[in-house]
Parts: sequence; structure tokens; C-alpha cells
Amino acid sequence: MDATFKERVEERLNQGLLGQWYVIAKSKQIQPGGLFRVKALSRDLVLWRGEDGVLRCTEDYCPHRGAPLSEGSVKGKHIACAYHGIEMDGEGVVAKVPALRNCPLEGRKEIDSFVVEEHAGGVFAYFPSADQPDPTPLVLPYEFTNGAYEFFLTTSLWESNYRYAIENIADPMHGPHLHGDTFTLSGGSREDKVKLTAVDGGFVVERVAQQGANFDWAEVIVENGTPHCRVNIPYPPAGGPGGMMRVVNFLTPVDEFNCRIFFWRCRKVKGIEREVWRFLFRTTFEPLHWYVLEQDRRMLAAMKPDARNRERLYQHDIGITRLRQTLSKMARAQVSAEDALKEEPQVSQNA
Ligand code: FES
Ligand SMILES: [Fe+2]
Repeated sequence: MDATFKERVEERLNQGLLGQWYVIAKSKQIQPGGLFRVKALSRDLVLWRGEDGVLRCTEDYCPHRGAPLSEGSVKGKHIACAYHGIEMDGEGVVAKVPALRNCPLEGRKEIDSFVVEEHAGGVFAYFPSADQPDPTPLVLPYEFTNGAYEFFLTTSLWESNYRYAIENIADPMHGPHLHGDTFTLSGGSREDKVKLTAVDGGFVVERVAQQGANFDWAEVIVENGTPHCRVNIPYPPAGGPGGMMRVVNFLTPVDEFNCRIFFWRCRKVKGIEREVWRFLFRTTFEPLHWYVLEQDRRMLAAMKPDARNRERLYQHDIGITRLRQTLSKMARAQVSAEDALKEEPQVSQNA
């Protein structure tokens, strides 16, 4: 039986919206001549960096017998399957079949390829949708482009649907409760109200009575084609120069039950302050941040996938409600666009 419209919308929401840019790896994970297997939006992908230094991305699937290309090796600009040696190019076209002269497979596009760009140490991939098959403009966070910030990129796999992970960011009131025993997030009051303000491509959610004492503010951008979030983490005076730490987060759905989170931890520092911050971060603050993140990871992993079907939201959850409304609207629009394309009348050859 065909899935209903509602079921397809739910499936799209669970697996991740298309027509968007997602971060899928750190640039340094793929050295020249190297390859890297990654799963994103329920697709098995392989990234490789040709000997020319250019990064390429296709399905992790050899069109001959279906072996994973990630078991193979890089040859010039191509990736070569380990099983019988077929070479694929970065467009998903069979470049060479070494085992059979004049094989008709040569020159045929057989697998999907993905446009990738590298920025701020991250690999961004575009996942096409029916109505946006070509990449939309990649909108980078201003922290990457305005030169004021120094940043570190780290990543972690969370055993949770990506929507719970974004909702966790859109929920500033969990800071003083879940993280109340930590170095950076123990301050401020545990009670407040929350307000929401619309901004370009998303919204800001913040505490009404308190700013700057805990995780009191978050910006969630989901409608600009490059979804990401930003939060501020207060640092005590012993935290060195640069004021609050800004964390820019990108969340990539791996599959229905897992997501990968990429954090850019940023501070406004220059010159010698930059060196002090890098040193303090590596020696002192990074382990403290991982402690906080482990609290988030454990909480989300322990929640049942269908927890949202039996919850009682209250005033603090306005960010979560707005996020769900926005993502649902986008998913419905995508599935409707796919239906409209299927129903488009075929142009007659004789017309
Ligand atoms: S399965 Fe890849 S070359 Fe045969
Ligand atoms: Fe948290």
C-alpha cells in the first residue's frame, strides 16, 4: 500500500529535509589521496580527495556489483573499486572498466554525486530536493566570515533523531538544570520565562529575566538552506580573553535514530589573546565542554524516539513548538513539490 501524504511528511522529517546544505565531515578527515565513508540523511556516501587536492562525493556504491567504493582506493581524480577495479569519477560516471576492453558501462552516469564545498575546516554537502535539484547558495554563519572569531571544530555522534538535538538547543531552560553541576553552566536562577523573536531564516529564543549568566539565549536558523544554531556560553574571569564563548552548531541527520553534531567553538580574540585562548581551550576547557555535551548526549539517547507523542509542553517550550511548525511546513512543501512533479503532464513528441 502506498504511504499516505502524512506518512511521507513524517518520513522526510525523520530522515532530514532535502534541498539544504549539511556538514558531513571535517576537511582534515580526507587527506589528498584519501577517502572517507560517511552516512548522512540515510544515504551511504564516500568522500575522496583526488591527487589534485579536489574533494569529491558520491554514493558509496559500485555500479558493477554493489561493492562499497569506500573499500577501494583513489587513483588520480577517480575512486577505484577494490572488487574488480572499476574507476568512478566525481560525477558518478564510470570512467574506466579495466577488466574488459570497450565495456559499454564506460561513460555512463550510474550513481548519484553530491556537490561539496569546504569552509572553516568543515565539508558542506548539498542534498538536492525535487524542487531544488541544483545547489542553493551556501549561507555561511557570520562567525566564519567576518574575521573577528577564532574557532575550533569538533564533532560527535549522538544516538538521537536530529530533531531532538535541535530542540535541545531551542530550550535554554535546560541549562541550569541538566548542567547545574558544571563549570560554565552552574550560574543564574533556575526559574524564568522564555520569549521568542523571529529573525531572518529562523528565531531567537531567550530567557526573559536573565542574560549572560547561563545558556540563556539561542538562535535557531532553519529556513535559509544552511540550517545551523548558535548559543553563548558564559565564561568566568579565569576563562581568559574574549568574553562569552559562541558555539555554532550544525546538525546532520545520519538516519532516523542518529545524528552527527558539528560544533564550532568561537571566541572574539586576536593576536596574543588568540594564542592564550587556544592554549587554555586545549589544556583546560575542552574536557569541561565534553562533560557538558555528554550530559546532553546521554539525555537525548535515553529518550524514546516517540517521546514527542506523549509530552506536556509548557511556556518554556515555545522554541520547540516554533521549530516543529517550521520543519513540518517545509516537509509538507517538499513532498507536495514531488507530487506535483510526478503529475506534470508529459510533453508529447509531436507537440
Ligand atoms: S563490484 Fe565494483 S568493480 Fe565489481
Ligand atoms: Fe545542553
